[in-house]
Amino acid sequence: MPSPAPAFDVVDLIRTKRDGGELEPDAVDWLIAAYTDGRVAEEQMSAMAMAVLLRGLSRTELARWTAAMIASGERMNFSGLSRPTVDKHSTGGVGDKITLPLAPLVAACGAAVPQLSGRGLGHTGGTLDKLESVPGWRAGLGVAEMTAQLEDVGAVICAAGSDLAPADKKLYALRDVTGTVESIPLIASSIMSKKIAEGTSALVLDVKVGSGAFMKSEADARELAETMVGLGQDAGVTTVALLTQMSTPLGLTAGNALEVAESVEVLAGGGPEDVVELTLALAREMLAAVGLTAVDPADALADGRAMDVWRAMIGAQGGDPDATLPRARETEVVRAGRAGTVQRVDAMAVGLAAWRLGAGRARREDAVQAGAGVQLHVRPGDRVAAGAPLFTLHTDTPQRFARAQAVLAEGYAVGDEPVGAQPLVIDRIG
Ligand code: URA
Repeated sequence: MPSPAPAFDVVDLIRTKRDGGELEPDAVDWLIAAYTDGRVAEEQMSAMAMAVLLRGLSRTELARWTAAMIASGERMNFSGLSRPTVDKHSTGGVGDKITLPLAPLVAACGAAVPQLSGRGLGHTGGTLDKLESVPGWRAGLGVAEMTAQLEDVGAVICAAGSDLAPADKKLYALRDVTGTVESIPLIASSIMSKKIAEGTSALVLDVKVGSGAFMKSEADARELAETMVGLGQDAGVTTVALLTQMSTPLGLTAGNALEVAESVEVLAGGGPEDVVELTLALAREMLAAVGLTAVDPADALADGRAMDVWRAMIGAQGGDPDATLPRARETEVVRAGRAGTVQRVDAMAVGLAAWRLGAGRARREDAVQAGAGVQLHVRPGDRVAAGAPLFTLHTDTPQRFARAQAVLAEGYAVGDEPVGAQPLVIDRIG
């Protein structure tokens, strides 16, 4: 029997977008469904992605594109839980371990946090890679296990199943190799399709700005934030965004086990000021988004309730919260060549150095070193003496030191100018 004729001609749709026209809603549905099941070829979708990168998508097209990506897979439903659900998504940055203290903290304040996370690629680390440095912890949970953990513990951080927005998995891999990642509508629909499919009732976005972020300029970050907030609200998910600084790494560590250790310090009531500040700012937004305004997350951090949830969350996924974290076999210290004030510590340079030390992967199938990474001893504005330690580099493979040092050398400066503090939270959108 001959196969039925396609509802649309993909080449016509590519031409329409290429020439600045608008795609009909049915055409968008058809395109995403046909690409997901292989009727639209990779080369055709890559031409379409480039046309979208150059021409953009209207608000109507974008809402439909996102809805079609959600419809390509399963949509989770946590409405049966006794607590309101709220999630956080960060567009990714160096040393961004905030999910680790944040999810148990918000759960300790009465919400349920279903955090589906990914592994890292390139200079930013992935939350799952970080947690996998905890001995015994496993990322793969079924829906029933996830739901039970959300009800009992209140927080779950696990891998997104392959059924969640499969159109995005295919399209993101294609964009990665066709120079079409940097399109605001494609980034917004990619992130929001996964977050909406995850079934959360509210969402707080942490949109990073600066050298270590996807969005290098504040104007681009603001446009991305506004686009994602609009998509969330149109889909009935209460959505707000914070624009936050990512020109310098968050906290004093970049690397998997190093970041887990720093997160545990925050849960124990200590940790670097910027990590605590951002954790609390995001927690307050998440709690407000689900109407839990009577609880102050600072109290739950100070009195150990967030730590109790962390221990339960790690334990429920097979991890031992008391186990010693892996440490790299070798370390090397980078010292100040002169006395002065630290002028800058560039997030991208630190992220690349951690990656070259073995903390990140170049290809999806690569393994990461749990103990590898960069420990910072200084922040911009700190005074240092000649010879003072600036960074400690950690790796299992000492032949990696030279390349990590080379990239780091370009990423900091010690000089004589005074350095003013930069606000961590730049703006709120929503
Ligand atoms: N993260 C995503 O999930 N998708 C993008 O397109 C970019 C970042």
